[in-house]
Amino acid sequence: MSPCATIVMLFALFLCTCLLAQTAPAPPAGLGPPQHLRCEYLVNPLGIDAAAPRLSWLITDDRRGARQTAYRVLVAGDAARLARDEGDRWDSGRVESSETAHIVYAGRPLCSKERVWWKVQTWDAEGRCSPWSAAAKWSMGLLAPEDWGAEWIGDAREVSGIDPAPPPMFRKSFDPGGPITRATVYITALGLYELRINGRRVGDHILAPEWTDYARRVQYQTYDVTDLIRAGENVLGVQLGDGWYCGRIGLTQIVPNGRPRRIYGDHPQLLLRLEIERRDGRVVAVVSDGSWKSTTEGPIRVADLLDGEIYDATREQPGWDAPGFDDASWTPVRVIARPGEPNPGLNGPAAPPGVGGRGPALVAQPNEPIRITRELSPVALTEPQPGVYVFDLGQNTAGWCRLKLRKLPAGTTVTLRHAEVLNPDGTLYTANLRSAKQTDQYTGPGDCTFEPHFTYHGFRYVEVTGLPYQPAATDLTGCVFHSAAPETGGFECSEPLLNRLYQNIVWTQRANLTSIPTDCPQRDERLGWMGDILAFAPTACFTMDMAAFFRKWILDVRDAQTSDGRYPDFAPHPFDPATRFSSVPAWGDAGVFVPWTAYVWYGDRRLLEEHFDSARRWVDYVHAQNPDLLWKNSRGNDYGDWLNADTLKLAGWPARGAEVPKEVFGTMFFARSTQLVARMAEVLGRTEDARRYAARADEIRAAIQRAYVQPDGVLTGDTQAGYAIALAFDLLPAERQDEALRRMIAAFDRYGGNISTGFHSTICLMNELTGRGRADEAYRLLLNRTLPSWLYPVEHGATTIWERWDGYVEGRGFQDPGMNSFAHYAYGCVGEWMFRTILGINPDEQQPGFAHFTLRPLPGGGLTWARGYYDSLNGRIESAWRIDGDRVQLAVTVPANTSATLILPTGETRELAAGRHTAVIPNAAQRPNAVIPNAAQQP
Ligand code: BGC
Repeated sequence: MSPCATIVMLFALFLCTCLLAQTAPAPPAGLGPPQHLRCEYLVNPLGIDAAAPRLSWLITDDRRGARQTAYRVLVAGDAARLARDEGDRWDSGRVESSETAHIVYAGRPLCSKERVWWKVQTWDAEGRCSPWSAAAKWSMGLLAPEDWGAEWIGDAREVSGIDPAPPPMFRKSFDPGGPITRATVYITALGLYELRINGRRVGDHILAPEWTDYARRVQYQTYDVTDLIRAGENVLGVQLGDGWYCGRIGLTQIVPNGRPRRIYGDHPQLLLRLEIERRDGRVVAVVSDGSWKSTTEGPIRVADLLDGEIYDATREQPGWDAPGFDDASWTPVRVIARPGEPNPGLNGPAAPPGVGGRGPALVAQPNEPIRITRELSPVALTEPQPGVYVFDLGQNTAGWCRLKLRKLPAGTTVTLRHAEVLNPDGTLYTANLRSAKQTDQYTGPGDCTFEPHFTYHGFRYVEVTGLPYQPAATDLTGCVFHSAAPETGGFECSEPLLNRLYQNIVWTQRANLTSIPTDCPQRDERLGWMGDILAFAPTACFTMDMAAFFRKWILDVRDAQTSDGRYPDFAPHPFDPATRFSSVPAWGDAGVFVPWTAYVWYGDRRLLEEHFDSARRWVDYVHAQNPDLLWKNSRGNDYGDWLNADTLKLAGWPARGAEVPKEVFGTMFFARSTQLVARMAEVLGRTEDARRYAARADEIRAAIQRAYVQPDGVLTGDTQAGYAIALAFDLLPAERQDEALRRMIAAFDRYGGNISTGFHSTICLMNELTGRGRADEAYRLLLNRTLPSWLYPVEHGATTIWERWDGYVEGRGFQDPGMNSFAHYAYGCVGEWMFRTILGINPDEQQPGFAHFTLRPLPGGGLTWARGYYDSLNGRIESAWRIDGDRVQLAVTVPANTSATLILPTGETRELAAGRHTAVIPNAAQRPNAVIPNAAQQP
């Protein structure tokens, strides 16, 4: 640049700076640019299909009481325009609002494949504006089936019978015909896929496109592959796997005439569109169609989610996914005329139209994909029998292993078996896996690293056999993967066993977010059991951001609802919900509870709008079956308060008396679901519905009191669980509540002071103890180390939450292997209590999404300190306390743009604005029911 030009430029810059200084005064110290910009809960998502996506951000302002009074969003069709502050797609203008989430895009309608950039600025209480945020972006997916221009393809074989078949590989070479500016792939499969371009794997998704009801909808994913395309010949290579579509899935063995695999369809199929934007302005598309070639002679011989993967390296076809490969032995693919044709043995709902008016609807995946989130190194390697090597990862988890193989002679087969626990002799204990093999096999030659593609295992221990040498511990790595919802919680306290318990809860959650919330990751089950997530959803929402995950899964729930309103026992429902596995109290009710929890945690009104009718149909169904309001009829498989203490096998333990009678249990859930439907209606402004369902809920409540509450206050069954649920769901008249609490606590004595509740009543009991001034009892139960308790497993080396309180008992051994998972999260629901009571973080249903919340930390249980946080939709909430001699010091942080009500253990209440706040109270407050004479003082 010439000196003259430089001077002109500097002068222009100076002028600009002066102008800017005049028009936009420097933002006040503390007010920074908004951060964490998200679109439909995701950071810079590609290929979304929400026509009016919702935007969110966090304001950055560390001043006390900081709040947003207005915002302006700009959305532009290119980055340069946005940098010039031009919102050619949408300029919201200055909007007076404190909202920072669920801001609905209201600009020019966006079309298929469109990419946009956006940014936001906010105004504070004094009317001063923040700097613009950094730019974020999103892109639209293929919004109409015809936008694919592609056909579903499969390999040419006919498959039949029930044996697994080798999954197909596909390839297609193409030439973009000139320099390119961008390339985007839209892809999905009925089955699972791994996409490769020119020898490189595309993306980091595992088990894509994940599990949905394939007869109705299949998810697709979008990848930016610009960097993988080169001049001249390019090759797309796709390896498919059976996955949920045609591999084995849980419980098929107990369905009459069930077959173990091919539940949704017979063979995997592929749909793909690669769109290349060339520098000359032309757009070139490469799509799945009859011109592709395929083979089933590749190295993956079997790939099954439950049984594992068999990989034969002698069949590798080097270069199959890159140019220059001779594919003469490959055969032309078959174009599938009726893709995703539902299994004729099933009587599922009709599929909405997909590509070419046929096949399942194609929807963009709305949540975080399954990804490897961490890798584990073995903590021990043993050889319990000659040549049998057992690696201990030190952590029960879900995923698979990567194994380094050294100079494996041709024809050597190495076998990896996976298990959660060991026999006393150090060999794997696999009886609790039932028929799931969880076994991977690699046949050499190989001087390489083996890692499977289309399976997953629940395990801590890995047995490796067949190695012609002694392995090193470092040869094996545990790859942990799950739906990668961001982690949002932190908890620590002075009791190390509780810290481990918290970690166990989070590990169990990771192990069971595999596209859907599963019951367990290891045995031949792994279904989206609704009752389990009903109990665990609030804990799940504290520890991870479940907003996008639940949006996805609640669709699965609706897909599995029968036309007469029955919710399934699990979703997706791979069988026919009209025939079996539906309509069970506290399982079906998850179709109401979970969306409500998601609404309370994330303020997602649209979720309720979309779901309301479905939720209403469920309670209407139960009502129609039970016009006298007691849930006597149509309780499906009627599991009841699952795994309550009547199921324990302990010496001297009462065989009966812990379980709430099933009719009472069901009717209480009917009442609660009806209350929640009324609340949903209220939120949505459906006044008439709100009134009608609230009135019905009151009638059910009255019916419960008439039918199940005796004059002396005994609730039918007289169980801890019954009182806990009745109190939690507000089903007793005010004058009966103290009596119920007293009877609930008295019932501990019948169990040696222990808890006797099942999956559903446990968290009710803990929360009710706290809410009714007996947090001392809740702390006692939490810290108890005798069975049944949370800390017995922890003291016995548990690294995840066990399905049963007595999954393993010293001196007795394992429970019934027919049902004994070591990674079931339901009893981990106590995580909710740890957040609500120890840290004191409680959402406010009236101001969802933590716009306002309650902080009510209750020191107790002999803990000397605790601290933790929750990354809410509105930013990080922190809570910490420490007992310091005769005082307790409390410190809390209220995020910008929110407010909180602090309830001190003394009972004193303070309204807190954003910022950090501290308080000192007398130590006696650690007994939450103690009366403390001195008011708390602010230091
Ligand atoms: C699952 C449970 C589930 C239950 C239904 C079991 O096999 O593992 O967690 O909720 O079936 O009772």
